[in-house]
Amino acid sequence: MSPQKAQAEIVRLSKILKQHSHAYYTLDAPTIPDSEYDRLFQQLVALEQQYPALQDANSPTRRVGAPPLDSFSQIKHKVPMLSLDNVFNQAQLDEFCNRLSSRLESERFIPLVGEPKLDGIAVSLFYVNGKLDYAATRGDGTTGEDITLNVKTIHDVPLQLLGDDWPESLEVRGEIYMSKQAFQTLNYKAEAQSQKRFVNPRNAAAGSLRQLDSAVTASRRLSMFAYAIGYVANNDERGDQIVASTHCEALACIKRWGFSVNNYVQKISDAHALKTYVSQLSQMRTGLAYEIDGLVFKVDAFSEQSQLGFVSRAPRWATAYKFPAEEAITCLNEVDFQVGRTGAITPVARLAPVFVGGVTVSNATLHNMDEIERLGVRIGDRVVIQRAGDVIPKVQRVILEERPESTTKILLPEICPICASPIEQDETIARCTGRLLCPAQLKETIKHFVSRKAMDVDGFGDKLVEQLVDKELLTCVSDIYRLKKPDLVLLERMGEKSADKLTAAIENSKRPLAERFIYALGIREVGETTARTLAGAIDTIWHLFDMTEEALIALEDIGPIVASNVLEFTNSPSNRQLVEALTSLGLAPQFSKNLVANQNLALTNKTVVITGTLPHFSREEMKQKMLQAGAKVSGSISKKTDYLIAGENAGSKLVKAESLDIPVIDEAAAMMMINEPQSS
Ligand code: IVH
Repeated sequence: MSPQKAQAEIVRLSKILKQHSHAYYTLDAPTIPDSEYDRLFQQLVALEQQYPALQDANSPTRRVGAPPLDSFSQIKHKVPMLSLDNVFNQAQLDEFCNRLSSRLESERFIPLVGEPKLDGIAVSLFYVNGKLDYAATRGDGTTGEDITLNVKTIHDVPLQLLGDDWPESLEVRGEIYMSKQAFQTLNYKAEAQSQKRFVNPRNAAAGSLRQLDSAVTASRRLSMFAYAIGYVANNDERGDQIVASTHCEALACIKRWGFSVNNYVQKISDAHALKTYVSQLSQMRTGLAYEIDGLVFKVDAFSEQSQLGFVSRAPRWATAYKFPAEEAITCLNEVDFQVGRTGAITPVARLAPVFVGGVTVSNATLHNMDEIERLGVRIGDRVVIQRAGDVIPKVQRVILEERPESTTKILLPEICPICASPIEQDETIARCTGRLLCPAQLKETIKHFVSRKAMDVDGFGDKLVEQLVDKELLTCVSDIYRLKKPDLVLLERMGEKSADKLTAAIENSKRPLAERFIYALGIREVGETTARTLAGAIDTIWHLFDMTEEALIALEDIGPIVASNVLEFTNSPSNRQLVEALTSLGLAPQFSKNLVANQNLALTNKTVVITGTLPHFSREEMKQKMLQAGAKVSGSISKKTDYLIAGENAGSKLVKAESLDIPVIDEAAAMMMINEPQSS
């Protein structure tokens, strides 16, 4: 790039960054995701490094934040509140560590402290003789806003320090944040009162903190974690000495004095521990009660910190490791409508591919038409995409400021995009009325039917179902049992061997437990547990078709809604025909009431686990009996376990079985199954 071009680019980036920084810090209304800000910021840093002569004294890279609002009185910080340099991956983090060692002329790994990087608002709390004197925001790093009244409403902020070994003047720094739970509640209330929702917990915390009326702040559930000591002074020989010589000790002090210190702060003494910390915290991130946007690593020893010193806006002894952004901006190019198993139509946004949360995303769910309305999104809009953890990416909001001139409204089609049947709207859900004549609904129904928790047909994957429906080899569910090897070998990626395996798997699925079969039928709101309840109440599948509403409601955990869904299913002639077709093709669900009489079927090829002390047999004796009855005996519980035989003092296996909804039986029930009922 020529110096002229670089100059123009520096001016352009500085201008954009200043605008966004004003929106973020002063107005509490960020217009772009942090990741985008960071990206532009890094571009400017790189250009300024390449052309140092072009750097402006007022460049956004030289300062921290933006000037405070006039409506709060201002407080000058005794020690400037600086920012942190960022690293974005393990290699850059390793470089940071290497730089520390070389600056300190050490061969060793410089001991660090790792901390979650809390996504809130930095605050400075000043205590005189143990009493909270004032609280200030960071502002531009030199001068902040006086938010004392508001901060006093936060429960984790001690108004009087505990103990008596604190310095006479003490500044504690930390982050004020709103928990994910408090944020949700706040937005839920805002929506109920038709008020504007907050974009994210940090934004909500900032908005709540910068209220001129502290009663409003008090009504919002804010919290604080303390992460450092800022300024210290004593009127005696101790001067500005604090009782600590390391960051860890300092945190222990402030904890003793009554502050909340984050639980995941950890000492890190070698490169291996550093890697482990990064990977553990990255995994824990979505499960935490509050949002973190990265980790902070600080040199532990204060002596080493002071040797390392500062650069213009950040200490050399600390860095922020930023997690991959969970939000990114892209263009919404198109909206397609997907049809689910029950015909529900889901609008799906097709996006210009964008890297977010560690992967490239090109689709995001829009849930339903109400959501589209709520977001106010149109085709062609610039949108913020969010992808947190393993959650399906979603459209978070529209960037109205960047709306192009030609956007178009998103309209619900009148007919199903797959089968052209009319679409009906019931409450918020639009549905295709084509039922199993709609290839999309048929595909999803068959995928569910053969799935692991249902008929468990090995090797019958989604891609195969799609091919078979597209080629009209499957035109209804019962066609599964009409598939012949010659049909299968014609399919893509299907050799003789796989075709043999698949036909065997289909054949083997013909004697399922009744509950699996009922679950496989895909009756609305009948999950595995309800299916088990229904199966336990009947002894042939036809009884299900005879059950009245009263009989259904009399069953445990079945209420009027599920009962009406079951009745809707059983009253439909096409469903009766389906079950007739399946049974005539040899499908024979196994009912537990019949299993006792027919012991072989009860246990053949079933996987059982034995635990605890049984009343009459040792575990080994029970194992032999099970093996003779055709069961497989395993030492550990997994999703594949069919029964757990549990005696007294059954421990973790029982807990695990219950959590996986695996039937637990006692010795007597096990003996019934192998037809050796106990006399005593
Ligand atoms: S230490 C000079 N520790 O991150 C070092 N900061 O980009 C000062 N932050 O403004 C910061 N969690 O608001 C530190 N455990 C933590 C933090 C943390 C969040 C924020 C802080 C600061 C920003 C730096």
